[in-house]
Amino acid sequence: MRLRVFQTQRDAGVYTAAQVERIILEEERPVLGLATGSTPIPLYEALVHLYQSGLDMAHVTTINLDEYIGIPAMHPQSYRFFMQHNLFRHVNVPLSQIHIPDGMALDLPAECARYDEVIRKHPIHLQVLGIGVNGHIGFNEPDDLLVSKTHVVHLRQETVESNARFFASLDDVPKRAITMGVQAILQAQHIVLMAFGEEKADIVARAILGEVRTDVPASILQLHRDVTVILDEGSASKIDAASRTATVV
Ligand code: GLP
Repeated sequence: MRLRVFQTQRDAGVYTAAQVERIILEEERPVLGLATGSTPIPLYEALVHLYQSGLDMAHVTTINLDEYIGIPAMHPQSYRFFMQHNLFRHVNVPLSQIHIPDGMALDLPAECARYDEVIRKHPIHLQVLGIGVNGHIGFNEPDDLLVSKTHVVHLRQETVESNARFFASLDDVPKRAITMGVQAILQAQHIVLMAFGEEKADIVARAILGEVRTDVPASILQLHRDVTVILDEGSASKIDAASRTATVV
């Protein structure tokens, strides 16, 4: 794992956008695995700036990690809406090349199978990840086991509480989601894990320096050969100076 610690989230976003741009320029049919949450917002802002300064994204395919079950696409807290608002309405990725699980699907197992087929047909070049306060990636929650394929997940109480800041009340937070499984994440050629703020410091240290454990899902990234961890001073505050040099583990 490579580790980079930035002074500001904006700097981190610009750095990560440059990694994304490299993939977009190098690959004939670039496929980006994208994440939601507050963390990747500086990345999306920087990507929009790159687009406005000439980066063509018409040949890009995007595959999002997850979606809440039971809220429609036009709901302001759906991940479809988030992506539209923060990225897609500003850039020229064609709608037909944007993939997000359908959280309103009547047949959820069929929707999960359909999504795995999308992933199979579009191997991911670069996967962007945030991390939940409990170590989840996508919505792969801490558990005795991790699920490899796209699946329906019952969100853990701490995840519902953490995500309640985006909803009117705790009761309004969906309790289930569809998430890409860990296999698709680990099959990405490159992975960028982003985390900001002191509230992520403990889990980041456990994920990148601790044991590989299914109750810290992000720790499985230690098994991948090309992961860049992008932090700010807050999220890096539990990582000792020696581990902060460019390479961890
Ligand atoms: C949600 C998403 C995750 C994301 C996490 C952290 O639960 N499913 O993909 O990493 O939130 O969110 P934030 O970046 O707002 O801390």
